[in-house]
Amino acid sequence: MQLRRARVLGTALLGAAGMLAAVQAVATTGSSKEDPWVERGRYVVAIGGCNDCHTPGFAMNGGKAKEADLLTGDSVGWRGPWGTTYPPNLRLYFQTITEKEWVKGAKKFTGRPPMPFWAINHMGKGDLRAVYRYIRSLGPAGHPAPDFVPPGQEPKTAYIQFPAPPK
Ligand code: HEC
Repeated sequence: MQLRRARVLGTALLGAAGMLAAVQAVATTGSSKEDPWVERGRYVVAIGGCNDCHTPGFAMNGGKAKEADLLTGDSVGWRGPWGTTYPPNLRLYFQTITEKEWVKGAKKFTGRPPMPFWAINHMGKGDLRAVYRYIRSLGPAGHPAPDFVPPGQEPKTAYIQFPAPPK
């Protein structure tokens, strides 16, 4: 049920918001029990710390946010010798790849600091699948995070400054 709903959402993508809402409403009222994959994904994301960076204001709010706002990315930059990175909007990102691509690519997944990509490398297939299904079940929301700013260029947003890494 949840997977089917995710596919429907995926196809409709960011298009007709009204139709999306209708699909979502039907899917929600139609299922009395939550998909165990979704439940597991919610748990993995919560203990995996993904919200700390990918949900705006989360770490500063003592970990409080409405589920509807989770993982929508952040416009506060993380600046260091690598340039300035922004935690992408995962609600949109997971609309752009298939579950198979996500699970298959996880062992080699990498990213610039401070993304703890090693956490993704360590995740087992079940947890990866659960994370995917949970985030897809939340549906697309929010806006894309600002683009990466190369080293030496001044970010236009607020940012957190990192020192150079220890030698
Ligand atoms: C300390 C902050 C931080 C935490 C914690 C974190 N991320 Fe990230 N994440 C980032 C940043 C910053 C980027 C962008 C890296 C870049 O630009 O190369 C990123 C990138 C990503 C991307 C790539 C998206 C794309 O558009 O290519 C994925 C997927 C992702 N994170 C998933 C997760 C998941 C799942 C978790 C929890 C297990 C997590 N992140 C935890 C900061 C974080």
